[in-house]
Amino acid sequence: MLKEINAVQLADGVYWLGILQDKRLEINTYLRIFKGKDKTVNMVIDPGPPVVFDKLRDNLSALRKDPKNVHFIFLNHQDPDVSTNSMYFKKYNPNVKVICSEDTWRLVNFLGLNVTNFIDIDKFKSLRGRLSTGHTIRFIPTPFCHFRGAVMLFDEESRILFTGDLFGGITHSDGLYATSVNWHGIRTFHQLYMPDQEALQNALDQIKNLDPKPEIIAPQHGALIKGDLIDELIEKLYDLPVGWSLLKSLVKNKDFYIEAVNEIIDDIRKRAGDDMIEMALRKIESDGSFPNIFEFKNDKVIDIKLDPGKSMKMLIDALQEDQPKETMEIIRNAVLKAAVEWNLPLFESLINENTTPSELLVIENEDSY
Ligand SMILES: [Fe+2]
Ligand SMILES: [Fe+2]
Repeated sequence: MLKEINAVQLADGVYWLGILQDKRLEINTYLRIFKGKDKTVNMVIDPGPPVVFDKLRDNLSALRKDPKNVHFIFLNHQDPDVSTNSMYFKKYNPNVKVICSEDTWRLVNFLGLNVTNFIDIDKFKSLRGRLSTGHTIRFIPTPFCHFRGAVMLFDEESRILFTGDLFGGITHSDGLYATSVNWHGIRTFHQLYMPDQEALQNALDQIKNLDPKPEIIAPQHGALIKGDLIDELIEKLYDLPVGWSLLKSLVKNKDFYIEAVNEIIDDIRKRAGDDMIEMALRKIESDGSFPNIFEFKNDKVIDIKLDPGKSMKMLIDALQEDQPKETMEIIRNAVLKAAVEWNLPLFESLINENTTPSELLVIENEDSY
């Protein structure tokens, strides 16, 4: 069910049309009204999926606009959550012009758009388009962020940068604008949907180099970004491993963690006895959340489904739960030993504040402890 959210003016002639959904992934669509001396041009940016079209139409009519009067549609890329409503706008206005890259067009034309509906961004050598109202719009290609032919739209007059999926977040926003709390959802979204860190850095460099600087970043998902948070998030995203390289390192590290976690379990078994470890593992397996994180076979971990480091920490916390002090110490020592042997990041909750790296080395060199 959609929330009853109406259009919000972002700047003179720029409106957020919603559409905030009661789903994990919020959809944003925008309307830009360019007013000239004797002419008005209406452009919808990233028109969204059919499920929001009725609400979109209501919000347009609240602004005394109608899908019939939408002259242009700008598409960042072809994904269904971005582009599908283009075909509905075309039903209302058969002459609507869809502005996108050729790579995007090759896919969106299957929505039933004709070549006469297409304005090819690649034909604008200066990457600037001049509207009959006198306004200039700029096209900023962001290859592989996340689609090969993705292009951002920069409205020079309002200084709003429409970034598509870039800066999008998996989040339920309390407000229209992001706060630092939104970083978690933005990070997850980019880790999942941006395929390559270098491509992401290239896109962020383009934003850093924009002149004038954007005042608002308007993504297609989640909260909008303005003020100091723009630079803060650019910096955070710049260093974020995403996509393939992230997946590759997780897969590589996973085998490593699986071996280490099994070694820890074996160590604890030797010191605390079979019964203790059997009971602890049974408890973990019957816990609703752990079967989703660890796959066990014959009391050995054979797969880890989430971030291996965090999952391992959760497993160790679970093993320690309700254990007597003596067993807790056995678990702690097994973990420290494995941490040194496998060069794993240490788990702070298991290490006393006064434990030093040299103490850990002593543990490594001892056969028993
Ligand atoms: Fe997308
Ligand atoms: Fe999207």
